[in-house]
Amino acid sequence: MPKIEIEFARDKKALTEKLRGYPAVFVVADRKIKDMIVEDLLDQFGENGVAIRGVKYLRINEKRKNLKTVESILEWLIRVGADKDALLLAVGGGITTDLTGFAACIYKRGIRYANMPTTLLAQIDAGIGGKTGCNVKSFKNMAGIIKQPEFTFINADFIRSLPWEEFCCGYAEMLKTFIIADPLAYQEAIELKNYELIGPLIEKAVNIKRDIVSKDEFDHGKRRTLNLGHTFAHAIECKSKGRIPHGLAVAMGIVMAARHSEAEKIANKGLADKIAADFESVGLPSECKWNEEQLAPIMRTDKKAQDGKVHFVLPQEIGKVVIK
Ligand code: GLY
Repeated sequence: MPKIEIEFARDKKALTEKLRGYPAVFVVADRKIKDMIVEDLLDQFGENGVAIRGVKYLRINEKRKNLKTVESILEWLIRVGADKDALLLAVGGGITTDLTGFAACIYKRGIRYANMPTTLLAQIDAGIGGKTGCNVKSFKNMAGIIKQPEFTFINADFIRSLPWEEFCCGYAEMLKTFIIADPLAYQEAIELKNYELIGPLIEKAVNIKRDIVSKDEFDHGKRRTLNLGHTFAHAIECKSKGRIPHGLAVAMGIVMAARHSEAEKIANKGLADKIAADFESVGLPSECKWNEEQLAPIMRTDKKAQDGKVHFVLPQEIGKVVIK
């Protein structure tokens, strides 16, 4: 079973304690959060004797999630003299954690890395489970390695500064996790009025993912359930030429998966309408302008397709999904 170490703490001191155990720490961070989060963190590290040996800021966006950016991290590590005992600490959203983890996995045939995700999406999904990688041309996450980070440090305070749309994208993935495995948490999340109180829900979503990954680290079975809504979502993102962000496309994709599930008589009638109404009530979109037939040609090219067959994760009810 893989070791998946996750620490939930609002106190940055807990992180400095952890990092003091590493002889050389190299930080890769999203430039967007330099003033808001990273500089304050670096001060804390400095005051508490963490061995920070270098800091690299990246300009992060989906177009830069490529091998060139990975190479720039590798070149920087060589320049600053990172050794086999180095720890690479990723501070940022999912693109930052994916790229940094990947660079760590291949630098000198592998050094250690840890994640400090600062977006809701990365805290509940990308920053845990050990998936690292980058896009190759327009093919999403086509290169990568699954290797668990040393630890993931989750501080719910970091998501306070998120732009609303980015927060919604994370919320959609959180609801996805609860539709897969926890009907009570799903209802709690739909009814949550004060987003300041989101911490315990993040913890529940993270623990569900940790449990799934620990049973199927290399994505051959149960882990695929985490792709609920994603086959539709990737096609929606592609049709929208990137204008619809991933998390919002996932919300639309989950509703489409629920409609498909009803049509296949896996779910009872009414599930898709309920999910759509719930999503609307928390400010998430539930419909897109393309139907399943229009999305089908793109879905057939999904990177997870095998022998031309696409696996769909379909909700049977809230808290239960099947792979078809
Ligand atoms: N984001 C899906 C997974 O980690 O498997």
